[in-house]
Amino acid sequence: MVALAKRKQDEFQAFYTNCNYITSYMVGLLHYQNGMSILEPSVGKGAFIEELTTNNTPNITAYELNNDSVNVLRNKYSCLSNIRIKHEDFLFPFQLTFNKFDRVIGNPPYGAYQSLVKRKQLKKEYPKFYVKETYSLFLIKALKLLKGNGRLVFIIPDTYMTLHRHECLRKELLKHYEIESIALFPSKFFPGINFGYAGLSIISIVNKVPNKTYSFPIYNSFSTPQDLLELLTEKRKKYEICRLTYSQLSKNPSSAFFLPSKNWINSILSTNNLTIGDICSVVTGFYSGNDGKYLKRLKSVTRGIKKYAIINIDDICNDDLSINPPLDGLNIPSCWIPIVKGGNKRFYKKSEWFMDWSKEAIYEYKVANKKRARFQNSQYYFRQGIGVPMVSSSSITGSLIDARLFDQSVVGLFPKKGYENLTYFLLGFFNSTVCNKLIRTINASANNSANYIKKIPILIPDAIRLNQITKEVKTLLTLAKKRDIVNNDLVTLNEYYNNMYDSKSA
Ligand SMILES: C[S@@+](CC[C@H](N)C(=O)[O-])C[C@H]1O[C@@H](n2cnc3c(N)ncnc32)[C@H](O)[C@@H]1O
Repeated sequence: MVALAKRKQDEFQAFYTNCNYITSYMVGLLHYQNGMSILEPSVGKGAFIEELTTNNTPNITAYELNNDSVNVLRNKYSCLSNIRIKHEDFLFPFQLTFNKFDRVIGNPPYGAYQSLVKRKQLKKEYPKFYVKETYSLFLIKALKLLKGNGRLVFIIPDTYMTLHRHECLRKELLKHYEIESIALFPSKFFPGINFGYAGLSIISIVNKVPNKTYSFPIYNSFSTPQDLLELLTEKRKKYEICRLTYSQLSKNPSSAFFLPSKNWINSILSTNNLTIGDICSVVTGFYSGNDGKYLKRLKSVTRGIKKYAIINIDDICNDDLSINPPLDGLNIPSCWIPIVKGGNKRFYKKSEWFMDWSKEAIYEYKVANKKRARFQNSQYYFRQGIGVPMVSSSSITGSLIDARLFDQSVVGLFPKKGYENLTYFLLGFFNSTVCNKLIRTINASANNSANYIKKIPILIPDAIRLNQITKEVKTLLTLAKKRDIVNNDLVTLNEYYNNMYDSKSA
């Protein structure tokens, strides 16, 4: 549950566009003329109104929820009858009773808090869209309010380009609208804001049904926010990194807007290759429901010393649990079993954490506390597979799950029947730069959830290459049991995968 203080802070997501270069570029992109009607669906303190009214006094309708901002704006613009500030929720009601607009400009709230009641209504109205993310709902609704050939310019996170949850939004755009351009830049261009890993984008869209050959430019590689203004001039070409074609985007998995800067990635993602999801079961692991009680650590582990007790070595079960997986618990005194947890370590994680696997504890996980606990995908417990942490700070990593339990912060990959001989090959793959580039193209964030991992295309090596790679991975595995693997250790391994994927130019 989100703490109350955090909710308040998230409620409006009031990050104002206090950067003149960004507002000038966006207003420049609008190409508005005198007499046109303009909508600002989340006006804040009026950054765009200020820019729009520098030389003109267009007809502006602006929405804002926040009392203070509304008061400031009403005072400021009370003498201008063509500027209407509405103290209303832009997303409600759903009926489009008002007139349509020639132009829309905005910086909508990103992930603003919605009450449960509103969220339910939104889910009903937009059943296929991801309603927890407000920016996409603002975009969808604002597009519906555009007149034919009208234009919208928004500044929003770039996550709509690749995240699985925005598939419907992408399909809607590709079917009904012409995207004129997308400019990508780091969130640090936005003064005083740090969105973590997310990049930002300025997107310009025209309400016009596109034809299949339609394409649009992606601009990138800006050094400073000032560079954005060059996009309004002939110099824009130097920032154009590619053009995306609607026909190609429609063929991409979940219609993702992959950037074809690396030809090998583009070609492998758009051909019908096998994917990890075809050859492996990709599943999340176990949660006790109360780790403070049921999880213990080795004395040498210094994380979580207040929360987790130190394991008594005699209580650890050293049996090979893969032979007869104890899914109903252990009836012996040494009933604490090793569990592989999250955290990025290549090839092998030592057994440092132990879960209570007594019959009583299992009863707790499966019955008494089953609402909080996750005794999920248990058919994979104690099998041999590969664990990939759900979040990776820099590169994706994989480590061996050998006859151990794995927790819910790890995605477990277990080769399906007929592909068991690929375990070491896959372990190497999930530590390779090729795999990292593929998953970061499929999903730009640091998130490696099962849905993204399943989509990674996988090439199966011939027997000779499989032997070579397996041997190299086994060497690295042995090394990883002694010390951390560093990038230099991975040179030969990366070469194997680069050759297979023809990605040397990457
Ligand atoms: C990211 S800020 C941007 C403000 C302004 N457009 C700018 O660029 O400076 C988003 C604004 O949307 C307002 N807001 C949040 N939810 C809203 C809603 N449902 N309807 C209208 N305004 C909303 C917030 O109060 C905040 O001022």
